[in-house]
Amino acid sequence: MLFYIASNYHNLEEIVVFDINPELILAYQTIKQDVDLLGEVLLNIQDKYWSLSENERKKYFYQTRELFNSHKKNINYHQFASSWIERTAQIIFLNRTCFNGLFRVNSQGYFNVPMGKYNKPKICNLENLRAVSLILQKVNILLGDFTKCREFIDEATFVYFDPPYRPISKTANFTAYSESSFNDSEQLRLRDFFSELDSVGSKLLLSNSDPKNENQSDNFFEDAYRNYRIERIQASRNINSKSSKRGLINELLIMNY
Ligand SMILES: C[S@@+](CC[C@H](N)C(=O)[O-])C[C@H]1O[C@@H](n2cnc3c(N)ncnc32)[C@H](O)[C@@H]1O
Repeated sequence: MLFYIASNYHNLEEIVVFDINPELILAYQTIKQDVDLLGEVLLNIQDKYWSLSENERKKYFYQTRELFNSHKKNINYHQFASSWIERTAQIIFLNRTCFNGLFRVNSQGYFNVPMGKYNKPKICNLENLRAVSLILQKVNILLGDFTKCREFIDEATFVYFDPPYRPISKTANFTAYSESSFNDSEQLRLRDFFSELDSVGSKLLLSNSDPKNENQSDNFFEDAYRNYRIERIQASRNINSKSSKRGLINELLIMNY
């Protein structure tokens, strides 16, 4: 949504993106600030990784994961530094080579996804990184809870919320993008914020998973957003540990317009 809007609407006064995941924001900032150096580091990693045997790759993957986790305590997530380049290269490497490209951390915030099986994973897509960097030059990239974006919003703002999906089944409880999990009371805290912004007059769009995929009588979103328009669309889900759960699935679009 961010990249679509930023590349298709050219008369916007300001574009702001918010997330509470410090690694995601650090990576966006690095791509914005020094894509050339990042590209060089990633190309080196890719050359090296492709040349390794299966056992060597395993060692390299878990060493990188260990380095990524042990460096966390030394990172200042609020001040761009050269160490951000290495960290962004590590997270992109891990994302491209881990199981299903998942991002998941444990309760201490340590990345814990195991290695995936790929023959020649594309670790550095320089053309894409450069295109992303170009667009991010126009974007204010901020770390924080969703309520912190309040100060950027008035009646002329369009806000898109892409929160963690509400789990659609008992086994799909994957909401741990960061140390704190996004449970139903978080979904309702977001709904309260949505209502607050609605009264400001902003245009609001929120997407989420549709609980009715699993349970027709689950009216969680119908109840929570009963004053708003809800549309169902078919979306494809590629990230799921069970291949039978990947593919087309209904998702919700909730709007105040
Ligand atoms: C479905 S993902 C969307 C990711 C993002 N739109 C993207 O494409 O990179 C949900 C995102 O919500 C973020 N999140 C979770 N709790 C949050 C909170 N309280 N405030 C802001 N963002 C939060 C997660 O870190 C995660 O990146």
